[in-house]
Amino acid sequence: MENVFVMDHPLIQHKISMLRDCRTGTNEFRKLVEEIAVLMGYEAFRDLPLMEVEVRTPIESCRTPMISGKKLAVVPILRAGLGMVSGILTLVPSAKVGHIGLYRDPVTHEPKEYYCKLPESIEQRVVTVVDPMLATGGSAEAAVNFIKEKGGKQIKFLCIIAAPEGLERLHRSHPDIQIYCGHLDRGLDENAYICPGLGDAGDRIFGTK
Ligand code: URA
Repeated sequence: MENVFVMDHPLIQHKISMLRDCRTGTNEFRKLVEEIAVLMGYEAFRDLPLMEVEVRTPIESCRTPMISGKKLAVVPILRAGLGMVSGILTLVPSAKVGHIGLYRDPVTHEPKEYYCKLPESIEQRVVTVVDPMLATGGSAEAAVNFIKEKGGKQIKFLCIIAAPEGLERLHRSHPDIQIYCGHLDRGLDENAYICPGLGDAGDRIFGTK
């Protein structure tokens, strides 16, 4: 699928296996999510545009590349997406951070926005939406809808584990965005948990349960 990238780096795969293990505690889980976000971000930002700037080294002046354009935006989908933000900021410390909160409408089962605050000039930024689990794809699809409604144009979506159902839905609704997954799992169970997955990512990141 064009614009869909399933990452096969051994370090990402190893760390995802550690995340899956039900014996992995909150502290370690949080650190692993952050480390995986760094590794995924490194790959996902390969195509960031560069421009030549003039720099004076201790020896002489030269023209040398730097990232061009407005500062990046990283947008976690609340709450589990928060766990990936520090990893992305390790790579791009000057990125602006927006937030999107969604809940599932009890009647229609459609995701509804309860919080959405995005950096200004969103239309000029590369926007990286993060959520560790792409399950049904409903929240991801809605989050990208909101960002596009506010003007977002260059959008990347990063998830650690995806279910085929969610990946297909997000790609079908938004074929223009780049989707990066750490691993593509087997599918969803009757409660929309990813199998084999890692359980509830938010609970495991925040130690709630
Ligand atoms: N969200 C999670 O945290 N885990 C799943 O398996 C599916 C959605």
